[in-house]
Amino acid sequence: MTAQIDADGRLRHLLTLEGLPRAVLERLLDRAEALHPHAHGGAAVRDRLAGRAVCTLFFEPSTRTRSSFQLAAARLGADTLNFDASTSSTRKGETAADTLRTLEAMGVHGFIVRHHEAGAVDALAEVAGAGTCLVNAGDGSRAHPTQGLLDMLTMRQAKGADFSGLKVLVVGDVRHSRVARSDLHALRTLGTGEIRVCGPKSLLPDDAELAGCTVTGDFDAALEGVDVVMMLRLQRERMVDGLITSIEDYHRDYGLTEQRLRQAAADAIVMHPGPMNRGIEIDAEVADGAQSRILVQVGNGVAMRMAVLEELLAQ
Ligand code: CP
Repeated sequence: MTAQIDADGRLRHLLTLEGLPRAVLERLLDRAEALHPHAHGGAAVRDRLAGRAVCTLFFEPSTRTRSSFQLAAARLGADTLNFDASTSSTRKGETAADTLRTLEAMGVHGFIVRHHEAGAVDALAEVAGAGTCLVNAGDGSRAHPTQGLLDMLTMRQAKGADFSGLKVLVVGDVRHSRVARSDLHALRTLGTGEIRVCGPKSLLPDDAELAGCTVTGDFDAALEGVDVVMMLRLQRERMVDGLITSIEDYHRDYGLTEQRLRQAAADAIVMHPGPMNRGIEIDAEVADGAQSRILVQVGNGVAMRMAVLEELLAQ
């Protein structure tokens, strides 16, 4: 496996939050908070990555991750390149590794990679040149580390930096969710007081992945007194048939409604990584309601990704 931390404790790549030291995680969160005022414009940090080039190399669709990385790179003064697999020479059989080497030869040394296969970004990191940095922007169901980081930033802004008293509930299609896996790693590393995971048994991963979590299929019981409710998208594109009985049954048992949300703490926040299936895992009234932090998460994505790109690429 490619090391993502160098001998000095700096990030070399960002491939997963699993095993990422707490000090590194907190340093990135602190830096994202400092960069937040510059995330939506201004010239103050435009020299940080001047002369560097960053490519978003996406083999799967994205709205939030790709756009926010492009904006983050631009805010830091980097040149940005958007690789679109659907119109590229990968359609003629060029491999992802040859694509990476081709772009490296043009002077690109920061790659933000999304791929449908778990481990694909690690494999590219193995063949990358010495000065090249890779960020995993989602590999299959395995990891989405920058989403995990921006989720932690959003919780920290709302609830403070000490996670030891927090009750966090993760709900839904955990089995297919790379976001849930990254969130769970980060929540454990930050010493979260209680992590609850809720979903139908068919959509939960193996017990080993849920170590340290309180697991239940009863959504109403799981909501009782929680500070953070993290709803997950039902990933129908990754599902084999028969994992749920019907969309209607799923919404009845695992959809977050205004009425259900009243069982959480009065000041609980609602999160969702997006894109949402409104009316399935979350009702529109909740998604757009006063407790929702869903668009805050999106906004935090730019600052968090600035912090990651700066750590990887600033000289
Ligand atoms: N949360 C997330 O990864 O969204 P996108 O698929 O739009 O990038």
